[in-house]
Amino acid sequence: MTRYLILSDVHANLTALETAIEAAKGRWDEGICLGDVVGYGPDPNEAIERVRSLGLATIRGNHDKASSGMEGADEFNPIARAAVDWTQRQLEPENLRWLRELPRGPLTRDGLTFVHGAVADEDEYVFTPEGAAESLRIAPSPLVFFGHTHVQGGFLLRGERVDGFRPSVSEAAGVVTMELDGDARYLINPGSIGQPRDGDPRAAFVLFDSGKRAIEFWRVPYDIEAVQQRMDEAGLPEPLILRIAFGR
Ligand SMILES: [Fe+2]
Repeated sequence: MTRYLILSDVHANLTALETAIEAAKGRWDEGICLGDVVGYGPDPNEAIERVRSLGLATIRGNHDKASSGMEGADEFNPIARAAVDWTQRQLEPENLRWLRELPRGPLTRDGLTFVHGAVADEDEYVFTPEGAAESLRIAPSPLVFFGHTHVQGGFLLRGERVDGFRPSVSEAAGVVTMELDGDARYLINPGSIGQPRDGDPRAAFVLFDSGKRAIEFWRVPYDIEAVQQRMDEAGLPEPLILRIAFGR
């Protein structure tokens, strides 16, 4: 029985990461990061160093590849590309090396599967039940954790039917627990730490206790203005500064 902390898409937002880690303190034994440690945010070196110091098992995301020069940023829109270029200029050699050596998913352990995008393609976005179907069917395990979309929730396959679900985490509680059906297969997205896009600006992550077969979806408020100020000082594109306040 292992208590997992599973997080994704930190996107160089150290304030959001620290706030999430503080909220999860004492509640996990093993930590997994589903990629995109950097890109968009103002703290690429600090975010990498924190992920490393926490000992999170990390797979690479598309921003990790682009920001470390493993791949070109041709697929990125101009704003994302500007952030990739800025990130590249900031990265310390040691952190650049760490990004380049990040393994490609799927990562498997303890009967669980971890990917950045889809099971067969790390760069594919899984937004819909139709898009989730293949991953659910070919996954090496009934339970898969994925990131990349920055939307907390996921999909389940029961029989032939695929449904999506989105937890509604209230301001007061900050957490919603979902029991897992032993007959279903799941794709679970912890949401994004540093740049949520599901309309809720709070940092998102999940806790999973392999002994209880239940997922806890967490949301924690953090000091967004402090991050916006650092982004402004860094000269990062304004749309990126604005969007973290809206979670879009
Ligand atoms: Fe991302």
